[in-house]
Amino acid sequence: MFNVDASEVKQNLLLEKAHSFLKTAYRELEKTELLPDRLSAVEQEISLSGTWSPTTEELTHGARMAWRNSNRCIGRLYWKTLKVIDARQLEEPEEIFNALQQHIDFAFNDGQIRSAITIFRAKSRTEPDGPRILNHQLIRFAGHQQGDGSVIGDPASVEFTQWCKSKGITFEGSPFDLLPQAIQWPGSSPEIRQLQLPEKMLVNIEHPDYLWFSSMQIKWYGLPLISDMMLEIGGIEFTAAPFNGWYMGTEIGSRNLGDTSRYNLLPTIAEKLGLDTTYHRSFWKDRTMLELNRAVLFSFDKAGVTISNHHDAAEQFVHFEETENKKGREIRADWTWITPPMSGSATPVFHRNYTNEVITPNFFYQDDLLHASKMPAAKGCPFHRNSIVS
Ligand code: ARG
Repeated sequence: MFNVDASEVKQNLLLEKAHSFLKTAYRELEKTELLPDRLSAVEQEISLSGTWSPTTEELTHGARMAWRNSNRCIGRLYWKTLKVIDARQLEEPEEIFNALQQHIDFAFNDGQIRSAITIFRAKSRTEPDGPRILNHQLIRFAGHQQGDGSVIGDPASVEFTQWCKSKGITFEGSPFDLLPQAIQWPGSSPEIRQLQLPEKMLVNIEHPDYLWFSSMQIKWYGLPLISDMMLEIGGIEFTAAPFNGWYMGTEIGSRNLGDTSRYNLLPTIAEKLGLDTTYHRSFWKDRTMLELNRAVLFSFDKAGVTISNHHDAAEQFVHFEETENKKGREIRADWTWITPPMSGSATPVFHRNYTNEVITPNFFYQDDLLHASKMPAAKGCPFHRNSIVS
C-alpha cells in the first residue's frame, strides 16, 4: 500500500536514536562487550511497546553527556561530576515535591554547591505533554506588575507570578518575594507548594568598599536550578528534569540585576556612586556594572556560597576544550553565550571560534505550558539569549 504507517516511521526513528546513544555511551563506559545484547533488547522493547527505558546507568551517563553537549554552558569542565537522581518511579505530588526538596538540600549543601539533576518519568508516546515543572527555575523571585506597567521584582517572572495569583497564592509585594513551586503531571491539575529553602540560600548583596551598598537591600539566591527544559536521551524525552550548577557572578551582577529588562539597577547605583549618568563617555554603566559584580562576588564569598567568576570560568572552559580534544571529541559551543557579558575580550574564549551544532543527548526548550498560545517553543533551536541557561 501507499500509506506509510506513521507510527512505524516514528519507531524506526526512535530505534535509530536509541542505537546511536547506546553505542556512544557503552564505548565511553568501556562496556562495548555488553552492547550487542543491549541493542537487541532495546530493539525488542521498542517493537513491543513503542518506547524504551534506559537503565539507571544509561540515564546517568546520558544526563552527563547532555551537560557536556550544552553549547551555551561555560561550566562544562565538570560534566562527569553531575549527580544524577533517578526519580522516574514517582507519580504522587507529595513524592514529587519531596524529591524537589531533596534536590535543593543536596545541591545547596550548606553553600558548597554540588551539580545535580533529578529525572522524573519521561513523556509517554501517547501523551501530548509529559510531566512538567511549571517554574522556569525552582527558586526565583516574583514580578509584580503595577497599574502603570512598571514591575516590582523580577520582570522575567511576571506571567508566572500572575498565574500563581490566579491560583490564590498571595505575596508580600516586595522586590524579592520567593515564588512557590508548581508541577503538572499528565491527567492531573497543577499542584502548588512552597518548598523550604536552606537558611543561607538568600545572599544579601554588600560591597567590600561602599558601606551604603547594603542599605539598598539587594539580594539574590544561591542556587540556579533550571526546571523547564526537556532532557533528551536516545530519543526519550524527559520533560521534567530539573538541574543545577552554581552561579557565575556576571549572571547576577551584569544580567539579572543589570539588564534593563530585569532589575535594571545600574542607573540607581550609578547615582549613589556619584557618576555622571547624562553622557555615555563617563562610562557610568561600565563602572557601575564593575562595582555591582564586585559586590556580588564579595557577598557570596562572605556568605560561604559557591560562585565562580568569569575569568576562572573562561579558563576552565578552555581546559574543558583541551580535555575533550584529548579524548578525541570535538567540542561545540555558542560563542555568544560562552563569552561573558563583561570584559569579554579579557577572557580567552573571546579569541576562539566554535561551531554551534546541536547534538544529543541535550537539553531543549519546550512550550511554556501556561502561555502555550503566546510562546511556541523553538525546539532544538534555543535562540533567545534572555530566556535561559548561561
Ligand atoms: N542565567 C540564569 C540566572 O541567572 C541561570 C542559568 C544557569 N546558570 C548556571 N550557572 N548553572 O538565573
